[in-house]
Amino acid sequence: MADLTTTFLGITTPNPFWLASAPPTDKEYNVRRAFEAGWGGVVWKTLGEAGPPVVNVNGPRYGVIHGADRRVLGINNIELITDRPLETNLEEIARVKKDYPDRAIIASIMVPCEEASWKAILPRVAETGCDGIELNFGCPHGMSERGMGAAVGQVPEYIEMVTRWCKEYYGKPVIVKLTPNITDIRYPARAAHKGGADAVSLINTVSSITSVNLDTFSPEPSIDGKGSHGGYCGPAVKPIAMNMVAEIARDPATRGLPISGIGGVTTWRDAAEFMSLGCGNVQVCTAAMTYGFRIVQEMISGLSQWMDEKGYTATSDFIGRAVPNVTDWQYLNLNYVAKAKIDQDACIKCGRCYAACEDTSHQAIWMKPGRVFEVNDAECVACNLCVDVCPVENCISMVPMTPGETDPRTGRVVSRDYANWTTHPNNPAARAAE
Ligand SMILES: Cc1cc2nc3c(=O)[nH]c(=O)nc-3n(C[C@H](O)[C@H](O)[C@H](O)COP(=O)(O)O)c2cc1C
Ligand code: SF4
Ligand code: SF4
Repeated sequence: MADLTTTFLGITTPNPFWLASAPPTDKEYNVRRAFEAGWGGVVWKTLGEAGPPVVNVNGPRYGVIHGADRRVLGINNIELITDRPLETNLEEIARVKKDYPDRAIIASIMVPCEEASWKAILPRVAETGCDGIELNFGCPHGMSERGMGAAVGQVPEYIEMVTRWCKEYYGKPVIVKLTPNITDIRYPARAAHKGGADAVSLINTVSSITSVNLDTFSPEPSIDGKGSHGGYCGPAVKPIAMNMVAEIARDPATRGLPISGIGGVTTWRDAAEFMSLGCGNVQVCTAAMTYGFRIVQEMISGLSQWMDEKGYTATSDFIGRAVPNVTDWQYLNLNYVAKAKIDQDACIKCGRCYAACEDTSHQAIWMKPGRVFEVNDAECVACNLCVDVCPVENCISMVPMTPGETDPRTGRVVSRDYANWTTHPNNPAARAAE
């Protein structure tokens, strides 16, 4: 079985699966059980300043988007950072770390954006013996109204400033957790890098309203008839998170900056995808909240089986492998031509591909007598919509044309040469350069 041992920022854990800072890591009881179940590390639920603890609502704090089979696709939450006293959390972190030296414990922190506040909490956190800290610059609700969380994460200058304080007053790795509620993720990542961050982690939750009750006209979760936006996470946010990870991984200004990938990781495959985009490890919240801690066993066995199949002996063999293949649209090969092909034996004659292509794509599917659906290559632009709406997996496939063949749609011979938009004759910029 492949060895999943992963070293991230010099912290070695038996596997790359860490629990993200959230309810699963809120207390000693949870974290001990998580470690017993097999998690490689945890980022402890975010700690706040010493003093009166944070106050949460006493009504529902979650809203959920379900799939047709009631599978949880996304969770929206209005929970704040830990509402337990700082002292209690610090004592528990120290105790658990002592008992599990081979697992990572990272303390997530969110205190006011003032040097004195960070200077006060960092030595206390260091005393616990935890492996590093994560700066929560991501929480989009509640705390951000008080000038913390996403309110810091949306201002690159603040990120750089606070990161610098942390590097000055704390000796172990500093991870900066980024908010996705920003137009261009590269700016906060660059700021973290400039401030001396050892790594960035992303994403925190996406600002959201999941639903509105049409009897009371209150957003859900509703607290006495009123709702407030929350933070969205789970499988639904994975594509957003992966794009942001890739943007940072391929940005020359942050290339090589370690990344911890977060957002919708539910299976080993999700983890492998994040890692192939440059993440040194992954963090998980919604999947543990939905299925319990033991889901990590599925992740461990799935990842090691896949690594065995591929001949990878260490996670470093595939970390970052997809990064060189992420490019800008303008560099995609415009000489690559494909056509949709329907496997008649697999087809159940539902007609979804026909409806989609006829009404909203290129009228490239014929419906022949006996509900036989066939692709008309002379119209097909290979958009993939029919593949995406077909209920039978692999029933429709995209078949690349061989160079030298003539594309019946354009009448042009398919070239074997790579040619992109930057040199295309229709590109005014390319014409001007001639
Ligand atoms: C109920 C809940 C509470 C959370 N609390 C925190 C928190 O205290 N600190 C933090 O950095 N992130 C917090 N998060 C965000 C998660 O750590 C994680 O970034 C996010 O849920 C995306 O991962 P997922 O898709 O695996 O859930 C919370 C998420 C949820 C669902
Ligand atoms: S790939 Fe697009 S254009 Fe071609 S048949 Fe399918 S839906 Fe129609
Ligand atoms: S959507 Fe798929 S199964 Fe349905 S008719 Fe088209 S090819 Fe057949």
